[in-house]
Amino acid sequence: MKPTLLILHSLFFSVAHFYSPSPCEKRYFVKESHQFMVCMCNSTYCDDFPALGTIDDDAAAVYVSSKSGKRFEKSTISWTTAKKNLFSGEGVRPKKRVRITPKNRMQTMIGFGGAFTDAAGINIASLDKETQEQIMQAYYGQNGIQYSIGRVTMASTDFSTREYSYDDVDGDFTLEHFALAPDDFQFKIPYIKRAVKLTGGDLKLFGVAWSAPGWMKTSGRMKGGGGLKNTSDGIYEQALARYYVRFLEEYDRNGVKFWGLSVMNQPVTAEDPDFTWQSTYFSPEQERDFIKYALGPILRNSTIGRDITLIAIDDQRPAILSYAKAIYSDPVASSYTAGTGIHWYLDMFAPVGVYTLTHKAWPDKFILATEACVALVPVLGNWTNADKYAASIISNLNNWVTGWTDWNIALDTKGGPNWVNNFADSPIIIDASKGEFYKQPMFYVMGHFSKFIRPGSVRIGLSMEEDDELEGVAFSTPAEQNVLVVRNAHSHHTYNLEIDVADRPGQVLHVSVEPDSITTIVWKEVRQYLNFGSFVI
Ligand SMILES: *[C@@H]1O[C@H](CO)[C@@H](O)[C@H](O)[C@H]1NC(C)=O
Ligand SMILES: *[C@@H]1O[C@H](CO)[C@@H](O)[C@H](O)[C@H]1NC(C)=O
Ligand SMILES: *[C@@H]1O[C@H](CO)[C@@H](O)[C@H](O)[C@H]1NC(C)=O
Ligand SMILES: *[C@@H]1O[C@H](CO)[C@@H](O)[C@H](O)[C@H]1NC(C)=O
Repeated sequence: MKPTLLILHSLFFSVAHFYSPSPCEKRYFVKESHQFMVCMCNSTYCDDFPALGTIDDDAAAVYVSSKSGKRFEKSTISWTTAKKNLFSGEGVRPKKRVRITPKNRMQTMIGFGGAFTDAAGINIASLDKETQEQIMQAYYGQNGIQYSIGRVTMASTDFSTREYSYDDVDGDFTLEHFALAPDDFQFKIPYIKRAVKLTGGDLKLFGVAWSAPGWMKTSGRMKGGGGLKNTSDGIYEQALARYYVRFLEEYDRNGVKFWGLSVMNQPVTAEDPDFTWQSTYFSPEQERDFIKYALGPILRNSTIGRDITLIAIDDQRPAILSYAKAIYSDPVASSYTAGTGIHWYLDMFAPVGVYTLTHKAWPDKFILATEACVALVPVLGNWTNADKYAASIISNLNNWVTGWTDWNIALDTKGGPNWVNNFADSPIIIDASKGEFYKQPMFYVMGHFSKFIRPGSVRIGLSMEEDDELEGVAFSTPAEQNVLVVRNAHSHHTYNLEIDVADRPGQVLHVSVEPDSITTIVWKEVRQYLNFGSFVI
């Protein structure tokens, strides 16, 4: 190689290795005299997640997002010697002790993600190809927040433009007329496949129906409540089970492989015969029997469904224990079922400790948060909504939940389309008329968890000095990192909370946590300290 070429060559490589993150392109909106901020992306610009790079043994990376406008703001800090009187109250402002005990190991994580719905796909499809790709990169790419799970709706939901199933021919028990909808081909499959590709094939997909086809229900249509038609030979249960298998087969034929399947979205909701959109009722005993006599045997007897992870319940917190008891107390129904899906909409009616009780009673069944959203017309830049996500995720994870799934990955500025006007907010709001999309504060909160708490991460012991509004959760990851996420919901304070984090004797990571913020701290796990269970710092 000629010297000049050599110089060019090394220049090229140093440039190629130099990574400079793109910052948030801020856009401000005023509502009710509050100023709100989102990050704007278009076909040529989008902010990304500042790469971790290599962390030295004596350092840690700190990422902050806040109401004040920080978005994945990265800094590097060092471990320092803990001062003996640090916590005795003699300091200027007492620091909060945060102790990590990696030897206390709890649940293993499945992952974080969102849902591929008709509405999400309709919105993404309304943008040009380059802008679509920015969204996929933002969620699934190496410089994005790297979602690891995806919920896929089967046939129509409220977030569709109409009511449809994959077989609307009355009495078609053999499912001769089963066919995916144009919506699957236009608005779901292409984006799912792109997402799977960006994750290198590591996206756990799980399917879920809002309702059985109308003709299988007592009410005769998908919309409204009611259960399956009741016959002594259970032909409707078997038809629904085969309908699920056909869905898995058809997606597979189109290049999409599933990890899991939910028995039915929100079976409790459908107790109301006048329910406003698609739903199908199962009592705890009916869901047990559907799994035991129809879905379990038919799924396991099919090539496509043999290894599918079956998720039961998929409903609100107050219903979890009664459904879990009915299903998991039956050895046959239980043998087909891997875990429990939970939604957050009625959290105010039951304490989060329900999940710890569920885990203690059935420790081999995982608990996965399968849906959550702020069910209101989007408010661009509202930090309170993001903070609700943070509070829910931290409290769930501290009660044995193994992952958290957001609802629609993208919606329009009205929070739709939704054929029954049940609009909602989303971490990504698309304004097709401008060819832009906005990353809501919720997007960043999701990233604070999804980016480093990779599938297979294990929750580890964490004790924090008593504080009303400082919350956190800690993990040991497959990459041999420790990850601590803390939320400071002190909106009425103007000063930061000073915390000293320790996972080893004599040394601390000092972090200043501002009000209304979420912080992720990542450092290298030090093997020799793994067994320090009870040291005093
Ligand atoms: C995208 O946004 C960036 C940053 O505001 C701007 O410089 C660029 O012109 C925009 N691109 C298009 C195609 O509008
Ligand atoms: C279904 O029918 C059987 C008899 O075939 C009856 O014992 C059972 O109570 C019925 N279940 C419901 C929910 O109507
Ligand atoms: C299992 O599959 C075989 C062959 O496809 C079929 O003959 C049998 O009826 C199936 N059993 C059940 C319980 O579906
Ligand atoms: C922001 O969201 C919260 C709910 O999370 C809501 O109470 C509040 O009114 C919203 N702010 C505005 C200005 O819409």
